[in-house]
Amino acid sequence: MDRESSQLIRGLEGVVAAPTQLCDLDGTHGRLAYRGYDITDLARHASFEEVAHLLWHGDLPTGGELDRTTVALIAARDIPRELVETFRLTPKDTDPMRALQTAVAILGMRDPDATDNSHAANLRKAVRLTSQIATAICAHHRVRSGQSPIPAAPDLGHAANFLYMLTGRRPSTVTAKAFDASLTLYAEHELNASTFTTRVIVSTQSDMHSAVAGGVGALKGPLHGGAGEAVMRTLMEIGEVAHVDAFAERALAEKRRLMGFGHRVYKAGDPRAAILRGMAEEACRQSGQFKWYEMAVKLHARINAAKGLIPNVDFYSAPLFYSLGIPVDLFTPVIAAGRIAGWTANILEQHDDNRLIRPRGEYVGPKRRAFVSVDKRA
Ligand code: SDX
Repeated sequence: MDRESSQLIRGLEGVVAAPTQLCDLDGTHGRLAYRGYDITDLARHASFEEVAHLLWHGDLPTGGELDRTTVALIAARDIPRELVETFRLTPKDTDPMRALQTAVAILGMRDPDATDNSHAANLRKAVRLTSQIATAICAHHRVRSGQSPIPAAPDLGHAANFLYMLTGRRPSTVTAKAFDASLTLYAEHELNASTFTTRVIVSTQSDMHSAVAGGVGALKGPLHGGAGEAVMRTLMEIGEVAHVDAFAERALAEKRRLMGFGHRVYKAGDPRAAILRGMAEEACRQSGQFKWYEMAVKLHARINAAKGLIPNVDFYSAPLFYSLGIPVDLFTPVIAAGRIAGWTANILEQHDDNRLIRPRGEYVGPKRRAFVSVDKRA
């Protein structure tokens, strides 16, 4: 193979695959910024609408720009009737991430800009997909529960409206703010597996809906976005604070892969986990389910002491989402509802300065050999 110069790097670990102005991820010092703004400031002071605008347009919006982005997001919340019909036809136990992947494909059938990869069209699609994905996740959940979808509330912001469409109840300001900050914390994270997937797809000059459907597929995996749900199922398996030590003992002895721990890039701590820990403490206390937070803190300490593993973004988002009343199998779709902002921003960036993404493989198969016709094969 004509590849003398390059070498095999499993999982592309540490490989820099593209320049980006979106996300500055410092894995050594555990720092994260979107377009120069530290994630702690954004989670604390900016709405998800402001952060999405920042990722798409490069700057935090002025008041007028924020109004325009907010109005556009509200106007784009409807989903096609045939998508709701499709949810009615699919098996009730369909994985919500598979339903979401289907939804993105169907949204692409109806989108007036579906095959237009221009910057302006991609910006319009980024807004539509960000709103429609939220509606689709909630509509699917209502239909699979035997209920009708709840129409969006035009007076509610993106995060509050999501919770309203999911539960039928208008969330408290505290709950809405915690969920809004969660969407911001999940919005963007450089070339993680699902974002890189979207870039590979659009690097062939394919379109945004095709790429987002691919990103949903990558995020679904338990090594990536699926970890949050797995963390909650671990906490539910443990059951009580008093059982954490015995569980940790067993898991370490069995060398189990502990979901919510470890990260390919962060080695000194995931800054998002620290923020989510504080939010989880507040939300678990407010909802009278403090034990989940206590269990998480205890498990964190035991595993960190035993293996030096750090909790990642999915570790404390699990008790937080659970205490906000989000069904466990919707944790990953909720992550997608945040990451859609980053996926679409990366797609804009890739389409605007594209080069086909095509790495090489290292051939380790049989040496070249002569063909043998089937009648002569033993
Ligand atoms: C996300 O990339 C991103 O930015 C992702 C993300 C984003 O915002 O997009 O941050 C979101 O996906 C967070 C990660 C969620 N996944 C999990 O929580 C699943 C559990 N975590 C692991 O599977 C693992 O830590 C990964 C997949 C996240 C990272 O794995 P790496 O970099 O491939 O590291 P590795 O699997 O090679 O592990 C290195 C060592 C191994 O020990 P040895 O076999 O060399 O002795 O650390 C151990 C691993 O066994 N290890 C773990 C572990 N994570 C690493 N051991 C037990 N439990 C774990 N969770």
